[in-house]
This record gives sequence, structure tokens and C-alpha cells, in this order.
Amino acid sequence: MTDSSEKFVAAIDQGTTSSRCIVFNQDGAIVAVDQREHRQIFPKPGWVEHDATEIWSKVQAVVAGALAKAGLRADQLSALGITNQRETTVLWDRSTGKPVHNAIVWQDTRTSALCNELGGQDGQDRFRERTGLPLASYFSGPKAAWLLDNVPGLRARAERGDIAFGTIDSWLIWNLTGGTGGGVHVTDVTNAGRTMLMNLETLQWDSSILAAMNVPEAVLPEIRSSAEVYGTAVGQLSGVPVAAALGDQQAAVFGQACYDTGTAKNTYGTGSFLLLNTGSRPVPSKSGLLTTMGYKIGSEAPVYCLEGSIAITGALVQWFRDQLGIIRSADEIETLAASVDDNGGAYIVPAFSGLFAPYWRSDARGVVTGLTRYVTKAHLARAVLEATSWQTREVVDAMYQDSGVRITTLKVDGGMTRNGLLMQHQADVLGVPVIRPRVSETTCLGAAYAAGLATGVWHDLDELKSHWQRDAEWAPRMADEEREREYRNWRKAVERSFGWHA
Ligand code: G3P
Repeated sequence: MTDSSEKFVAAIDQGTTSSRCIVFNQDGAIVAVDQREHRQIFPKPGWVEHDATEIWSKVQAVVAGALAKAGLRADQLSALGITNQRETTVLWDRSTGKPVHNAIVWQDTRTSALCNELGGQDGQDRFRERTGLPLASYFSGPKAAWLLDNVPGLRARAERGDIAFGTIDSWLIWNLTGGTGGGVHVTDVTNAGRTMLMNLETLQWDSSILAAMNVPEAVLPEIRSSAEVYGTAVGQLSGVPVAAALGDQQAAVFGQACYDTGTAKNTYGTGSFLLLNTGSRPVPSKSGLLTTMGYKIGSEAPVYCLEGSIAITGALVQWFRDQLGIIRSADEIETLAASVDDNGGAYIVPAFSGLFAPYWRSDARGVVTGLTRYVTKAHLARAVLEATSWQTREVVDAMYQDSGVRITTLKVDGGMTRNGLLMQHQADVLGVPVIRPRVSETTCLGAAYAAGLATGVWHDLDELKSHWQRDAEWAPRMADEEREREYRNWRKAVERSFGWHA
């Protein structure tokens, strides 16, 4: 039984491999969780798609599941927050509500050639000053342009205003608030900032970039803050204010209470994303990081971050399980890796979608190096895990070069933080303690916090900060000499991943 004065906030986390709904109480503790996976569609090498209609039905199912597990009715929720895989691009017909094509997922590399063309003489940094981003297949603007050019008749329909563009936040908010029956078409600054179409200073669509990419303004959602009531849900959540949207990595910043300049978190999901709060001004990067939005609460000033985006970390474990069949469940990798003392000389660079930070090389492809007959599947399991910590080390080095901030501890979250062997190796290769909070579902927590702030469930950031509690900590144990030797080997392996595909 729940006390009738108790307040609850729900968050939907629509991620790359699954959708989750979590209900939180006013202490920021989890009351109920429901989760479902959706299909990964790989039409060609380097292409990754999702069915946006399937995603919407999975989202509805997890909302129903979480409410049932919590024993709550929709009218007992004070607010709903959305967080989502970023950059994944959906175009849909405004009158039928149907997507015009599968969603193009952030990992998809089909726009590499288009991005090279767009760079022209100015190269990869053509739009970096205005958007904080290098031209790369990762971002959603070029994905929208690709769809407009490749789905027959789509451009004319888009120019007539019949087509809507959205990242997954927009797609869900539009459906939650009524879809064809009057859904609102909005996005928040953190998601808009990943399209490469938004100006980081004005927080508005940049008309000259739209013109360069040939994306008509008529398809775009309105850009709003990350915490405000966008509309009221209909259907199963009828009457609940939809009150927050943040890209999943920014939501994790918010859920980890990284509200002070200089605080950072790393989230280990399909990929890993390390974000450092740089305060109220965007900090340009010279070392291969992204300058990106942190969050914007209602009418308050925006907060910016530097981000090191790593495309493939958890997805390498999935590949090891599903494509190679060496393990049956993701958790088995820890036992297998722990059965040997080291990687036996093997390194795996998972450049499946090219390499993101700090390299931004779309010509990179995955490599396994250092093989001898001595190497067993257990050594490879170690190399899989170590690929995550070494990629993170490279991002942390780039953060230092760009910001002068030396991270003294790293707050971590996400599924892979259950893997103690990996977390120990992470602390070892960074040479600083790694700390996991009690609520490691920080992505949902951040979206719930933002929605609760917008609706008066919580009052300020200090209140949210007071909820944060440490659960586990790993202190570095590796000798300096070993760390440096292994790092050199890792970088040699990375160089071998370059130059495979234009
Ligand atoms: O930018 C991509 C990121 O938002 C995806 O996150 O957790 O679904 O791997 P995740």
C-alpha cells in the first residue's frame, strides 16, 4: 500500500537495445522497473536501423509493466520524464503518424561519404564552431538529409510540411501527447544539440547549416528546455504532465548530480560516454571531444559539457556473445576473463562504426592484434573488457588536454559497472578511484529529477544532490610501468584499425 500523499515520478529510458520505465519515489529511490529489448536491424555492413513503431509499442508495454509492478495508477504519477538514445533519426508522416522508413541509428555509418562532401575544403570542422561537433556519420542532421534524398518523393512531402523529423525524444513525446490527434512536436536542447543543426549559443536551428545540409525547416520540432511541461499525456498515462527530455548521457550527468563545474561521469552502455560539466559557457575542443549541452532547466541558463563519446563498449560484449557465441550471457564474460591473469598479449579495437572520440575516423574498422597460439578465449574475453577501459583512458587524457581538469575520481554508471573486473581495470588504467552510486540507473533518475523539478516534486539541485549515495569504489592497483607498457600496446593496436574503409 502506498501513502496517498507520497509523490511518484516515472521516467522512460528509450535506449539503443532496450526500453525501460522506472518509477521513483520522492527520495529518488526505485519503486519499480520494467524493460524490453527491441530488434537491431543490420541491412548492410555498417548500417544499423530500428523500427520506430516497434519502439513505441515497447515503450507502452514497459510503462504498463512498471505501473503494474509499482501497484500504481497513472493518476498517482506527478510527472513523466523522457530520456533516449541520442542522434537516432526518425521521419514520420504527420497525418498518419507512420514512420516513412526505419529509424537510422546513431551507430550507422551510411552518411560517411555525405559528411566528407559536406566538409568540402573546410574539412571535418566546418560546423564545429557553431555546433561543437565534427562532421561525422554519428549525428542526426546528415541522417535526415540522407532519408530526404533516398526515400522516393519524401523531399517534396517534407517541403509541403507533411513530414516531421525527430530524435527519439520527439517521436515519443509526439505519440505520448496524442500523435495524429494533436501530439506536440518538440525536442530539448540536449537532443537538438546532437543534430548538428542547432547553434550552441542561440539554442536555435541554424538556417545556414540547414541550407548546407538541405534540410527544410518545416520538418523540425520546436527546441525547448530539458525541464518544463511540454504537454499532457493521453492514453495509458492520461493526464500525466510530460515534463522533461534529455539525451541519455546528459540525463546521466543530471542523475549523477554532476551539477558543479569540473564534475564528470562515465556511463557504460552500448557505447560509453564520459561527460565533464564545464559550466555556463561552451568550451571548444582541440583534442577530439565534443562540445555539447549538459542540460537547461526551464528558463535558467544552460549548462555545457565536454563529451568523450565511445561508440562500442557494451556492444562488444554483445558481439562476443551473439556473433561469436563464445559466451551465452553477458555476465559470463567476467568469469571467463577472471580465469586468466592477463590478456595474453591480445588487444581488440572495436571500431565497428569507425572510431569516435578522440579520433573521429570513419575509415577505422575493428582489429584483433597480438594473436599467438597461446591466446585462448579467456584472454580474448579480457581483451574485450580492456577495450572499454583503454578507450575511456584516451578520452580522459583528451579531457585534460582540453580543459586542464584532471579527474581525481570517476563517477560511473550503466550496466557494465556490475562487472567488478572491468571496474578494477578501469581504476588501474586511469590511476584514480572509480565510484558507483547506489542508484546506478542514473539515466532514468536524471530524467525523473528534471521532470520532478519542473512540476515541484523537488525544489532545487541541492535537494537532488542530497540523494546521491556511494555504493562501491575501486582503487587503482596497477604499477605505473605496467600501465604505460599496456597503454603503448593499446595505441599500437588502434593505429592498425585505421585506413580500412573510406
Ligand atoms: O549517443 C548515443 C547514446 O545516446 C546511446 O546511448 O546507452 O543507448 O548506448 P546507449
